[in-house]
Amino acid sequence: MRTLPTICSAAAALTVVAGGITATAQDVAPDLPDTGAIQRGRAVVVGAQSRQVGGECFKCHGMDGAGDAAGGYPRLADQVYEYLYDSLRDYASGVRRSDIMTPIAEALTEDEMRDVSFYYAAIEDAPYGAPPEADGHLLQQGAVIAAVGADEQGVQACVNCHGPEGVGLPPTYPFLAGQDAGYLADQLEAWRTGRRHGDGFAIMEHIAKAMTQTQIRAVSLYYASLRPDRVTPERGATGAGMVAVGRDAAGREAGR
Ligand code: HEC
Ligand code: HEC
Repeated sequence: MRTLPTICSAAAALTVVAGGITATAQDVAPDLPDTGAIQRGRAVVVGAQSRQVGGECFKCHGMDGAGDAAGGYPRLADQVYEYLYDSLRDYASGVRRSDIMTPIAEALTEDEMRDVSFYYAAIEDAPYGAPPEADGHLLQQGAVIAAVGADEQGVQACVNCHGPEGVGLPPTYPFLAGQDAGYLADQLEAWRTGRRHGDGFAIMEHIAKAMTQTQIRAVSLYYASLRPDRVTPERGATGAGMVAVGRDAAGREAGR
């Protein structure tokens, strides 16, 4: 049962937002997909609908979304659905830049983004690779940053938003637990250098810019070393309704 921690961290995140950060409303909540979404998403993963040759998701992220740390390909399995969809939109619009993902996302329709996000978000049992090798001191430092932040630098505790043990908090906050350390550190670096925007509040940009490189390494290794049973917490009634709610495929304009 993750109900209580979820509520706690939701309250914490709300407090943070209420603390004077202004939304720029870049995030767009996707419609909830219909029952055929997983099958259609699967077709995108194998490239059946892709107009981008080489853009078949499974080649890098796997059919099961486990990712591939050696290639720098992040884990997508069980990630927050809305977050995945938003990320694809951000790649396509250029708000988030990646030589690999930007052209792939540009070649997808909105419906394909929705379906493929839903496909990966629904996978709960993708295997993890071996945890990263890291010395205990560094992991300890990472655990402290995750739990309480670094006050003197204005860095908030990661658990405020990413949930207990970094399991994520739908619909906005992705899981960090079990994600590849190199990928996590690279994303923080991307915010520092302006390669990544688009979290709607510039929260992560602010946090990443305030952190030292050692802190980035420490917290990335810490999260990469966690192995929670499930990442993205169940959403009770909302989660159960995800497949059933929403317009059917015929009700949507193609390529919207
Ligand atoms: C050639 C390898 C490759 C292929 C094919 C590929 N990806 Fe990626 N993907 C990456 C890499 C590398 C990143 C990290 C990019 C960055 O630094 O932002 C990534 C990142 C992502 C992210 C962001 C994850 C996060 O945690 O923020 C999503 C979502 C994603 N890919 C979805 C897809 C989908 C859907 C497809 C198929 C349509 C696909 N990818 C095909 C390599 C690939
Ligand atoms: C006030 C809320 C908040 C706090 C506190 C916060 N984050 Fe985030 N984080 C976000 C949001 C929102 C996103 C999604 C950004 C987007 O949509 O592009 C995010 C995304 C990320 C990502 C990208 C994950 C991926 O799959 O690409 C990393 C890495 C990350 N945060 C690390 C951290 C670390 C480390 C801390 C603590 C030092 C932290 N965050 C604290 C809100 C927060």
